[in-house]
Amino acid sequence: MNQISDTQFQADWLSLREAADHAARDDALLARAAACVRPGMRVLDLGSGTGSTARAFAGAGYDEVQWCFLDTDAAHLQVAKARHPLAECVQASVWDVDALPLEHVGLVTASALLDLMSTAWVDALAERLGQAGIPFYAALSFDGRMRWEPPIAADADVTEAFNRHQRGDKGGQAAMGPDAAALTAKGFEAQGFTVSLADSAWVLGPDDAALQDEFVAGVATAAAQAGEVQAETWARGRRKASGHTALRVGHADLLAVPAGHGPKQDDRR
Ligand SMILES: C[S@@+](CC[C@H](N)C(=O)[O-])C[C@H]1O[C@@H](n2cnc3c(N)ncnc32)[C@H](O)[C@@H]1O
Repeated sequence: MNQISDTQFQADWLSLREAADHAARDDALLARAAACVRPGMRVLDLGSGTGSTARAFAGAGYDEVQWCFLDTDAAHLQVAKARHPLAECVQASVWDVDALPLEHVGLVTASALLDLMSTAWVDALAERLGQAGIPFYAALSFDGRMRWEPPIAADADVTEAFNRHQRGDKGGQAAMGPDAAALTAKGFEAQGFTVSLADSAWVLGPDDAALQDEFVAGVATAAAQAGEVQAETWARGRRKASGHTALRVGHADLLAVPAGHGPKQDDRR
């Protein structure tokens, strides 16, 4: 999911969440996505941040992928380039679907991005990728569910307010927020893609207290902006308990494969 605060999208937040993101990704769907990339084709990562998707692929043994990272944030791209010197970096917005550089692209990826985007955007992306015959793999879309153990009184109210905020205006259009994976599946299916969904929830424990604390801070800020008056008190209570709290945050991974697109032979083994 996407953290909403003044330090939104900063590299330290991305790096704090990376281990949880990688543990949460569905391994089988990632392997099927990687198998879509034919030799000589590159992978375009939308909203790449510092290149976490490339590291997830490499961690699963797919380390010879030619990456093209696309993001609006120059600082993230600088870190991505330092960590993946062979990758191409494009500083641009994903909103302009017609301008996305699809030459020699065998797979388009995204992670923790779709909840920010609108239904109109995803429908336009599905149409363009359908015309080009390119598969789409989008990991870690927040699905609206957060469950703390043990629970405290305001968890449900804060979650509801947070989800309201997630569906708010981003880039001039209502964001898909927690409905992102379901709406993306619908948009790609309408263009003839075969869509697979998999669970990729974060499962955090007391050892992840730093990530839990930062997550709670972002949730509280967004919930307060959505009018939840208990948000600040709730966050204080949650932070006090994070050393002995379990937290599950629902996410979904999605793979959309265009009609007639067979996977290449998996030559890793
Ligand atoms: C939550 S971060 C995820 C980054 C990375 N995919 C990951 O999983 O670590 C969202 C990323 O999307 C980028 N982003 C947000 N809006 C964007 C837009 N309109 N065009 C391109 N990138 C965008 C941000 O700069 C940020 O790097």
